[in-house]
Amino acid sequence: MTAAAGAASAATPLAASAALSLALTLAAGAAAADAPPAYPQGAAAFQANCAVCHAATGAGVPSLAPPLLSYPARYAASAEGRRQLAITVLYGMYGDVVVEGKHYDFRMPDFGQLDDASLAAVLNFVVFDLAHAPASVAPLASAEVAAERAHPLDGAAVREHRKSVAPAEP
Ligand code: HEC
Repeated sequence: MTAAAGAASAATPLAASAALSLALTLAAGAAAADAPPAYPQGAAAFQANCAVCHAATGAGVPSLAPPLLSYPARYAASAEGRRQLAITVLYGMYGDVVVEGKHYDFRMPDFGQLDDASLAAVLNFVVFDLAHAPASVAPLASAEVAAERAHPLDGAAVREHRKSVAPAEP
């Protein structure tokens, strides 16, 4: 064995343990991200209908579509906020909005072609799996979507209603 090889093999256990702890840290992060969604049907509907703009992770796309990782949990905690979630997916939304300090001014399409149960499921995936609303928040029910379907709006009115539930803009 050469001196260099001896030094290398002596260094190996330390390097290996550092690599192992890094691998374990990464694996723990991956496991959290890969945890099965609480709303698997909503997750499937999200990937099919929403991910193209909001990204598969819900992180959004700069200047195209806002992140869905925090505000939806806040909306779901109030009656008007829950209405806002339902009308956003039923009727879409357009006009400038500020989400987490950034402006978005593009058009969210309407998803009224999906039935009430599918829209409730996709919203629950957004609210609980993406935005991590606490368990004290009740899941959106199909009946809440049905109630808003009975009162058609346009996307400008949806944005107008949003002002009453969104965090104050700086
Ligand atoms: C074509 C791109 C596009 C698709 C597809 C899309 N969205 Fe959006 N979404 C947007 C845009 C753009 C906005 C912001 C609208 C604005 O600027 O007025 C938005 C806003 C939202 C908001 C409101 C965020 C807030 O803080 O008020 C929610 C909730 C939402 N989308 C959920 C969904 C869900 C759920 C789906 C799938 C059923 C979906 N979106 C599909 C582009 C999209």
